[in-house]
Amino acid sequence: MRVLLVGSGGREHALAWKLAQSPRLSELHAAPGNPGIGRFATLHPVQLTDLEGMAELASRLAVDLVVVGPEAPLAAGLADRIADAGLRCFGPTAAAARLESSKAFAKGVMRAAGVPTASAVVCDTVAAAQAAIAEMGGRVVIKADGLAAGKGVTVCDTAADAQDAAEGCLVDGEFGTAGRRVLVEERLEGEELSLLALCDGERVLALDPARDHKRAHDGDAGPNTGGMGAFSPVPAVDADLVEEILATVHRPVVDELAGLGTPFRGCLYAGLMLTAAGPRVIEFNVRFGDPEAQAILPRLDVDLLDLLERAASGSLAGAAVPVTADACVSVVVAAAGYPEAPVAGGAISGIAAAETLEGVMVFHAGTAERHGALVASGGRVLDVTACGRDFAEARRRAYAAVDLIDLEGSMHRTDIALAAERMEHVHA
Ligand code: AMP
Ligand code: GLY
Repeated sequence: MRVLLVGSGGREHALAWKLAQSPRLSELHAAPGNPGIGRFATLHPVQLTDLEGMAELASRLAVDLVVVGPEAPLAAGLADRIADAGLRCFGPTAAAARLESSKAFAKGVMRAAGVPTASAVVCDTVAAAQAAIAEMGGRVVIKADGLAAGKGVTVCDTAADAQDAAEGCLVDGEFGTAGRRVLVEERLEGEELSLLALCDGERVLALDPARDHKRAHDGDAGPNTGGMGAFSPVPAVDADLVEEILATVHRPVVDELAGLGTPFRGCLYAGLMLTAAGPRVIEFNVRFGDPEAQAILPRLDVDLLDLLERAASGSLAGAAVPVTADACVSVVVAAAGYPEAPVAGGAISGIAAAETLEGVMVFHAGTAERHGALVASGGRVLDVTACGRDFAEARRRAYAAVDLIDLEGSMHRTDIALAAERMEHVHA
């Protein structure tokens, strides 16, 4: 099979690495890709915003499958263009992608399908937001309705904070059109969980659970980021809990979208809070998580290409996702200044040495080649990933690999999957 992979981050590098293991793969192409992806794929310089160019590329290459990594091209309708060109796409149509691109739409679907989620009020004016904040008692979460690259969410302790956040969106235009509408949402307490499932329009097939570390610094301090690291599986989240979440979240949502005439084909990512009252949805994403995919894909003991093709063509019936018994940990190495003002252009060395360590893979998240040298080109630069027979071993390997990598001023969290390792000891 000929495949075109769309994207240029660590998630897409992990996808490329795993797809390259498929005996059914004949050619892997990527656009725009990155130097890490370039080890497995022929790169094409078509940008993510160029839907026309992307669809043309897929047609010209006569690929059997297009796999779309990031949300922006899906929200803009890339899957629709690919379908119009008569090709198959893993990733939902723009209509189904509204689950991620409009939080108000997602709430509407959840309400209709009876999916447990934080209660929320959609507000178009400051006065409406003020009333909702007062009614919910100040401890709320303010969310820009549209896509804001993971930054449009403010978790508030007081009504004054909430008011500021709402005005930032509605008056000051902080998130542009994405923030013209806000959600004032009940603040949930508990541990977070990412449960991703492959969907073929009708059926859902869960991948092993993962957890992301969203805050910039150790101990969950500092600002929210796109994610500083992830691990999979998640101790204490057993098969019964996964089944409960599929039954109360993923299946009702997929049924609801099918009923609306906009079936969901792709990866449905539920971001959940495990509250005392049970799992509650925080958000949906319509693609693999980044960096969750980097911790989930290395454990898959199955042909990923086969699964993605079956999801894209409505034939997941009877499919399974066997995994290895390993634990997997992925640590993000970010550029100096991330997330506020990441410094680009720093030289990166040590990846080859890191990859000689057992169980280690280094995925490129934000890298570029300049004059033959590898340099940082984004906030999150590398995802240093390791598998091991338990979290203690996986963490030891991942951090030994991080120590071998050199990027001036780079930062990383030192406590990725630390809680998972501690739980392991409790249960051992
Ligand atoms: P989101 O972009 O919706 O995933 O939100 C980013 C982060 O904000 C989440 O990972 C949570 O840590 C936090 N968050 C979002 N919604 C809520 C909520 N209703 N209650 C508590 N924390 C939340
Ligand atoms: N890791 C969070 C996300 O992919 O949105």
